[in-house]
Amino acid sequence: LTGVPGFPLPTIHTQQAYAPDGDFTARWTRADALQIKAQSNPSVPAGQNSLPSQLIMPGIPADFPTINPDVWVWDTWTLIDKHADQFSYNGWEVIFCLTADKNAGYGFDDRHTHARIGFFYRRAGIRADQRPANGGWIYGGLLIPEGAQEQVFAGTTYTITAEWSGSMRLLDPRDNKVSLFYTDMAFNRDASGQDITPAQAVITQSLGQIHADFNHVWFTGFTTHTPLLRPDGVLYQNGAQNPYYNFRDPFTFEDPNHPGVNYMVFEGNTAGQRGVANCTAEDLGYRPNDPHAETVQQVLDSGAYYQKAAIGLAVAEDSSLSKWKFLTPLISANCVNDQTERPQMYIKNGKYYIFTISHRTTYAAGVDGPDGVYGFVGNGIRSDFQPMNYGSGLVLGNPTDLNQAAGTDYDANPQQNPRAFQSYSHYVMPGGLVESFIDTVENRRGGTLSPTVKLGIRADASAVDLRYGNGGLGGYGDIPANSADTNVSAF
Ligand code: FRU
Repeated sequence: LTGVPGFPLPTIHTQQAYAPDGDFTARWTRADALQIKAQSNPSVPAGQNSLPSQLIMPGIPADFPTINPDVWVWDTWTLIDKHADQFSYNGWEVIFCLTADKNAGYGFDDRHTHARIGFFYRRAGIRADQRPANGGWIYGGLLIPEGAQEQVFAGTTYTITAEWSGSMRLLDPRDNKVSLFYTDMAFNRDASGQDITPAQAVITQSLGQIHADFNHVWFTGFTTHTPLLRPDGVLYQNGAQNPYYNFRDPFTFEDPNHPGVNYMVFEGNTAGQRGVANCTAEDLGYRPNDPHAETVQQVLDSGAYYQKAAIGLAVAEDSSLSKWKFLTPLISANCVNDQTERPQMYIKNGKYYIFTISHRTTYAAGVDGPDGVYGFVGNGIRSDFQPMNYGSGLVLGNPTDLNQAAGTDYDANPQQNPRAFQSYSHYVMPGGLVESFIDTVENRRGGTLSPTVKLGIRADASAVDLRYGNGGLGGYGDIPANSADTNVSAF
């Protein structure tokens, strides 16, 4: 590796595997993340894409169709088993989405405190080009009986609750029992929307049953909500340490190398009091004598220590997946980025990939990258993970001009690429297919599912498959099952 003139070299990561319950945490370092800037073209005309095209999602047309007129839709997940295979049930594909009522008088940016998990279904086994343009999903309603998730917050003070992201496990493909893992949220806010006390985020389990007949899919259960994990302030930052802590998005899986053991990855932050200036030389990750290295003091003086994302790991202590224990974080991003969201473990050809989503606006001072998917590869679930693609971590970004200020999804910088916020909350599915939601395309808000794209993934590199779909864009909300339940069909 020779590196890019004017930029440091990325950190050396061995991909070596460690015991899952060990205390090795891989670092996504500043030296790694700076490879994104190194690969960005400093002289594109303002508002173009400055990043390598094979790492960028093709532009979504501004005349995209919407999935449903009545609900905003964002983070979306599928019905998976312990190996993340995606199941259809009795001939139906099913997806779970964060939803918010469009008719309740609030806009897409107010969705977070009103989020409820809804579900959609459609017949399995139909090619994307034979479905309606919006993917043909039928809205099935909300999953959790109104208010049932509030039992987790009994005896605490809150003003509004929300259901945030997670995952859905089909516990046995011969059966209809499902386990929802999600983030139960309670906010305690004043009339102007300011937190009186920090939000409570609780990783929660709720059991239910899926049903289907010839005409529709429905669910029962989800009446009992079992709190599984609250951040402990020791391995994972809590609200007392940082009112803006991130703790959410559980994804469970079994490691083929540890059969019968269930693990969970989730979004967290490095424990400790917010604002303590304590990133280390290891967090920076420069090689000895790199002429482009920053000093620890320079980085601390920039205020970069406010951003300390961590990808968490927990292990199940019972077979019903109702008791979990924290393990040391798998990856930290201290002084690099504050959010590594919706992490997932993707196991392919003996390699362990962690994919996660992050934002341009959550990067620390001095480092930069687009909204989208980031990826890390190692030889086991706990590894000295190597950031993919030039050692940078970037896998699938929105078209972005890194030479221009970010702006926001609701208040665009007119100099920025009008698709810099086109999509978010990507989830990598079997076969490298990636689903996500549309946020803003040319100032038109989405709240609906993006066209699916396809990644080629090989060793530590990935590329968008431009032969897939229409110039790389597949069907809107095309989220196909790759497995079928063995439950005898009722029709
Ligand atoms: C990602 C995310 C998730 C969270 C949800 C809340 O889009 O930030 O981490 O569960 O949105 O709306």
